[in-house]
Amino acid sequence: MSSATLKIDDKEFTLPVMVGTEGERAIDTRKLRADTGVVAYDQGYGNTASCESSITYLDGEVGVLRHRGYPIEQLAAYSDFVETAYLIIYGELPNATQRKDFGLLIRINAGIETQMQKIFEGFPKDAPPMALLSSIVGSLAAHYPQLATNNFETDLKNFDLAAAIAISKIRTIGAMIYRYQRGLPYVGPRQELSFCDNFLHMMFSEPGSDYTVAPEVAKALNLLLLLHADHEQNCSTSTVRMVGSSAANMFTSISAGISALSGPLHGGANTAVMGMLQAIHDEGDDGTRFIAAAKSGSKSNRLMGFGHAVYKNFDPRAKIIGKACDEVLKKLGIDDPLLAIAKNLEQAALKDDYFLARKLYPNVDFYSGIIMRAIGIPMNMFTVIFAIGRAPGQIANWREVAANPKGRIYRPRQIYVGPTKRDYVPIKDR
Ligand code: CMC
Repeated sequence: MSSATLKIDDKEFTLPVMVGTEGERAIDTRKLRADTGVVAYDQGYGNTASCESSITYLDGEVGVLRHRGYPIEQLAAYSDFVETAYLIIYGELPNATQRKDFGLLIRINAGIETQMQKIFEGFPKDAPPMALLSSIVGSLAAHYPQLATNNFETDLKNFDLAAAIAISKIRTIGAMIYRYQRGLPYVGPRQELSFCDNFLHMMFSEPGSDYTVAPEVAKALNLLLLLHADHEQNCSTSTVRMVGSSAANMFTSISAGISALSGPLHGGANTAVMGMLQAIHDEGDDGTRFIAAAKSGSKSNRLMGFGHAVYKNFDPRAKIIGKACDEVLKKLGIDDPLLAIAKNLEQAALKDDYFLARKLYPNVDFYSGIIMRAIGIPMNMFTVIFAIGRAPGQIANWREVAANPKGRIYRPRQIYVGPTKRDYVPIKDR
């Protein structure tokens, strides 16, 4: 095993170097504080491996993304969301029986009990959908306490059922949020429908007349979900692992992950991109103003859908989505002016020194909103779709935490920069 030498003042310390299966190297600093009295500082953990994981491999320098070894390009071309979910969760592609059983468990667990339906009524109709989603998914721990014991051993025994419930019901809850906000009666799932067809049916069917799902719409949704299924140690997945590390059950941990996903720098970016494209359209601008504002360095003026914490060359998901976007719109016969604006914006930014120097390229969210809009998903539901797609990755990561006998609770250190010790002053003297 190789090692690294660290010199602090005039003392030298040896630190082990770990190597992953793809040759990634990391200095193991777990004993650093005990041996040296010093901690590692890494705000945002951008240079910290928080765990060992065998789920997803990502090389942001060259745009590589693989789930359990399988390239995202192959999964997008040949697999579907449910099969990829199985792969991500269980580590191998399913055989025909495993695929059938997994699909069945998802199908039979799609419904939402009457008692749970009442929860929706407690929320304002115009509340942000992601706020509803995280709360209602969190309530699964209350509705299925036998699957959510906050004890790793028992929760792992019931893992298969809990995972199927999570994947299936997050989708149903998403569709119900859509209907609740519009004052429409809920439409129950139909067992014979595939995962995406069932979602579209629950969203768009009118009572008494079933919505006919266009195959190209279901295919586009399937691709979107698959491309979002996992993405290594991103903000929301790390949140799931952090919450799970306290032995919190899967539903509670996923609910926390959904909350993390809602932010505009993360899952909320897909909505923000569409808001930006729409604003450019409404102003009749060619995007110049947005590009100029994005260069100001202010976080609130960033070019949404651009840049990535780890991809510094291209986001492979964005390549697949960009291509799919053209195909889906063509098949559906839609001419969306926002697509042309997005393409112009991309070309302009990719020629601009500011974006080139910082290696800022379109990410997964840049074109996904245009596809969602084309298949009838309203803008405020975009991040909900992201959350439905991300469930397998969150489930798999929760399981890795729960099944690791040597795993520690997530508990980072800090560098305290506040006031040093001072004495309390009574209020009359302040
Ligand atoms: N527009 C303009 N400038 C940007 C952008 C952007 N979208 N992204 C980063 N920068 C600048 C940033 O200001 C900084 O400039 P400087 O070096 O002069 O200070 C430099 O690029 C490096 O930025 P950073 O903050 O170190 O980048 P990061 O890796 O911490 O942030 C990010 C990654 C995705 C949060 C960021 O690129 C961003 O805010 N993008 C827009 C929001 C977005 O599209 N998010 C979706 C990400 S993909 C879906 C997901 O997995 O969540």
